[in-house]
Amino acid sequence: MVHQFDVVIVGAGGAGLRAALEASKTANVAVLSKLYPVRSHTGAAQGGMSAALGNHEEDHWKWHMYDTVKGSDYLGDQDAIEILCRDAVDAVIEMEHFGLPFSRTEDGKIAQRPFGGHTRNYGEKAVRRACYAADRTGHMILHTLFEQCMKQHVRFFNEFHVADVIIEDNVCKGVVAIEIKTGEIHVFHAKAVLFATGGYGRAFKITSNAHAYTGDGMAIVFRRGVPLEDMEFVQFHPTGLRKLGVLITEGARGEGGILRNNEGERFMEKYAPSIKDLAPRDMVSRAIYQEVQEGRGINGEDYVLLDLTHLGSEVLEEKLPDISFFTRTYLGIEPADEPIPVQPTCHYAMGGIPTNVDGQVVYDSDNTPVTGLYAAGESACVSVHGANRLGTNSLLDLVVYGRRSGRHIAKFVQNAEFSAMPEAPATDLEERIRWIKESDGDESPEEIRTELQREMMDNVSVFRSKETLTKMQSILADLKERFQNISIMDKGSFFNTDLLDAIELGYLLDFSSAIVESALARQESRGAHYREDFQDRDDENWLKHSLAYLDDEGNISMDYKPVVITEFQPKERKY
Ligand code: FUM
Repeated sequence: MVHQFDVVIVGAGGAGLRAALEASKTANVAVLSKLYPVRSHTGAAQGGMSAALGNHEEDHWKWHMYDTVKGSDYLGDQDAIEILCRDAVDAVIEMEHFGLPFSRTEDGKIAQRPFGGHTRNYGEKAVRRACYAADRTGHMILHTLFEQCMKQHVRFFNEFHVADVIIEDNVCKGVVAIEIKTGEIHVFHAKAVLFATGGYGRAFKITSNAHAYTGDGMAIVFRRGVPLEDMEFVQFHPTGLRKLGVLITEGARGEGGILRNNEGERFMEKYAPSIKDLAPRDMVSRAIYQEVQEGRGINGEDYVLLDLTHLGSEVLEEKLPDISFFTRTYLGIEPADEPIPVQPTCHYAMGGIPTNVDGQVVYDSDNTPVTGLYAAGESACVSVHGANRLGTNSLLDLVVYGRRSGRHIAKFVQNAEFSAMPEAPATDLEERIRWIKESDGDESPEEIRTELQREMMDNVSVFRSKETLTKMQSILADLKERFQNISIMDKGSFFNTDLLDAIELGYLLDFSSAIVESALARQESRGAHYREDFQDRDDENWLKHSLAYLDDEGNISMDYKPVVITEFQPKERKY
């Protein structure tokens, strides 16, 4: 079946919905989502969305900008960060007016809490900047935006799994999707396509990410010649529930929670004397690994404790109800009485599909746009997070850059014509599906995926080296070969999740190679990319963005482009 819309948005999380809302004011918009929209992973975001509202104490968007640049280890593009932080104030108030039920101060303003790396007056001391709705901020954003889209009659195609994009002569013409319920292939012909498909945490064994987070959008465009930017920067959130990876919000430390090692020490005092447990995530995750490596993990094991007992049950119930529930449910621990076992969990992709500040996808080091192709949110790299994202800047990124992309798209489609589609746009996908269903090898996609996740966790997580990365290169080559020899049990059409898992596994393998090759090439340590064999940041050689390209033979080549620096020159990063 063929459909035609001015705009097709792939993904119904915060960025996709915010863009849809904006573009649909004047254009005919379809949103395609492999999930029911309110199950999107934005709903799992807990602690808040930053904006220098100054509701509790003095704050400025410039301080927010400085913190974001410094947090990014100076790899973030400062023009994009300026927009993020300046537009934050208005974007958050707009969300309030859409009906987002924020927690409130005593005098009725939006409540704000401290978060990692958020400071007043260029690093002086912690500031309350994260606007929150208890520890369900993402959930509230998602539902608020979905309601607004419903009100505006945005057309949703739920449980449509987009698996290909049509790009010819550098013009994007649409996407091809599988309707999950029937297995039918649908072609969507569009003047503009926006990918807002989120991140890829499911390439790692311990992750806070939903099962659906398999890097689809990144892999789909990567296979069509668009590079992936800064893929070596994978964020590990310091506090995932031990072994499970379920997120325990940084807001818990914002409310006063303390990390302790086996000796009961508040170990962050050693690593970040001024802001301690509220240091940025890359530093806290590394500190936890170091405590464990030096034998101070709890009972000699690979985790530490997050102590919230001194906060009392009233504060926990009012401000952190969800994480209290998760701790009780998954570990049988009452956080008011006992500290919570935590370990770093793969949480966020700083890298992704390269875009300019209007959300247009760019494909080379001169930032040349692909006509009609856009990306926003975690699947995109604009780049506001650089080498390390500050907590609460991702929900902000969704609304600020979702809205900006939506605005640009609305203008673009007003003056654009539909480009002629190729004769058989679905052929490649049909061929891929036929191959997966007919392949009768003896490899199980599930086993390949489990091995990939285990090995990525061991070799490409918080600490990397040439040794671990080259090991992972050869493991990936082997897993890709095994992938050629898979078979799936379900050969049918209806709700064939076996087929979809195999398609997603192909994505996991492809973008994991981009992560590994980019990490191997970058011979320095910066933000979340820590090389044991190159422990220092090297601005002279590496203050630049990586671009990984995939060729038709499956080989990856690297290129680089400069970082945009407007106000803040790189300095040593101390907290
Ligand atoms: O810790 C958290 O609540 C996560 C927030 C974020 O990733 O921005």
